Amino acid sequence: MAINEKDDYPPLKVGLFYNVKHKSGSDEEAEYDSFSTIEAIKRALEKRDNTVVLFEEDSSLLEKIKDANIDIAFNIAEGKGGRGREAQIPAILNLFGIPYTGSDETTLCIALDKALTKRVLATYKIKTPKYVLVPAKNPTRPVNLTYPVIVKPNAEGSSKGISDVAIAKNHKELTEVLKINIEKYRQDMLVEEYIHGREFTVGLIGNGKDLFVFEPMEITYKRPTQENFCVYSYSVKQNYEKYVDYVCPPDLPKAQIEKMKTVAANVFKILSCSDFARIDFRLDENGSLFFIEVNPLPGLAPNYSDFPMLANFCGVDYDTLINKIMVSALKRIEKI
Ligand SMILES: Nc1ncnc2c1ncn2[C@@H]1O[C@H](COP(=O)(O)OP(=O)(O)O)[C@@H](O)[C@H]1O
Ligand SMILES: [Mg+2]
Repeated sequence: MAINEKDDYPPLKVGLFYNVKHKSGSDEEAEYDSFSTIEAIKRALEKRDNTVVLFEEDSSLLEKIKDANIDIAFNIAEGKGGRGREAQIPAILNLFGIPYTGSDETTLCIALDKALTKRVLATYKIKTPKYVLVPAKNPTRPVNLTYPVIVKPNAEGSSKGISDVAIAKNHKELTEVLKINIEKYRQDMLVEEYIHGREFTVGLIGNGKDLFVFEPMEITYKRPTQENFCVYSYSVKQNYEKYVDYVCPPDLPKAQIEKMKTVAANVFKILSCSDFARIDFRLDENGSLFFIEVNPLPGLAPNYSDFPMLANFCGVDYDTLINKIMVSALKRIEKI
């Protein structure tokens, strides 16, 4: 797919499925969208003459879907509770036979489990940092990793739990970080070797032979975010102007850019992602590329989220991006 080609599709009745933030600053709702994002997606779809019906994920959803008669869903819902939460809306839409944009329930479940994703990718020799999954029930066992390590809740997005205490330089610090995070998140913790080096994120849109990979966007740090470490944490994302710059295309040899784009496309295919996704990488000081995580439901906040930002760097404005996602889904389900 040429990213700037004009794709036409007939006007549709689109259901926009989401979870919206009700309390500002709540960690529990950190993954949820603000209403301005929902409005921006709605506006972008309406510009193409679609009728957009809003569906917040709540307990009255099933009743509402039944009578809504929608052609397709634009899904950005993060879901409520548990490792499979992002699968809730796709699974419900499957039940009603309604097609939707983005990855299916299985891909969303796997990707939300960071350790499971790493295990799948390891079978395809995709390099990811060495790790140990520490069970919430028995966190005291020593880990056979080289310090420093980074500790992340295994099934959270939006850098939840990745606060200023997430790096551990020795076993004692690790024990403390694990204790705090397990108490807070009540789930297994992914402990990974910390990769010193540069950080990139790669956006993808489309499917199969039409998969388009954007130029990588580098996240460069203006200053370390803690001691000598740079972590694109929740608080750093919230205060991004203070800590980071975004550079796209990055200052990297062409061969390295191509390699990163190829690995990103492979990860997209291995995990059976659909329509769009964003993949994070680190490049260490010896030039080794490490997969960090895949976001099959990347944030779409205009002027804030990484995906619209990197698209914009590549000349794709917000409304075009939203409609490209829709076009990718319509092509995939053979509606256009
Ligand atoms: N193994 C690692 N080495 C170095 N930094 C890491 C590593 N894993 C994560 N990070 C840092 O933490 C940030 C958030 O981690 P990530 O796995 O992408 O979780 P999230 O779902 O919160 O985006 C990354 O963008 C990166 O800055
Ligand atoms: Mg990330």
